[in-house]
Amino acid sequence: MSAGAGIDWDALKAAALEVRKRAYAPHSKYHVGAALLTASGEIVGGCNVENATYGATCCAERTAVVSAVAAGLTDFRAIAVVTQGPEPGTPCGICRQVLAEFSADGSLEVLCFTPNGAEARYTVAELLPHAFRL
Ligand code: THU
Repeated sequence: MSAGAGIDWDALKAAALEVRKRAYAPHSKYHVGAALLTASGEIVGGCNVENATYGATCCAERTAVVSAVAAGLTDFRAIAVVTQGPEPGTPCGICRQVLAEFSADGSLEVLCFTPNGAEARYTVAELLPHAFRL
């Protein structure tokens, strides 16, 4: 069975597009949406939330992870991330480490896409080999 089999990617992408509408990005104007799929089938969304200090900005991926954990969900199968521009953006370094925290074997699937149809799929292990582990 291929990686990512059985995942309703279209539903996950639709959720990421929907939550991206709530992106708070007055500084960069770069809107990002993320939708996490849990092992029990829930979808939890997140958008980027910027701050005037820039450094306090929270990426969409981390917003989704933090929201899920606060809802009692920590077992994740996949995340879809929608960015703008001609090519899909990939999660930043901090988000990769945060995703690795919840993917002990690195098998969490990461689908990066744009509204114009470009997409690329990775695993967390591919995005962050040798993640820090305590
Ligand atoms: N951003 C994300 O939300 N996810 C990423 O993986 C990369 C960057 C956000 C942060 C900031 O609000 C904007 O995109 C520009 O960097």
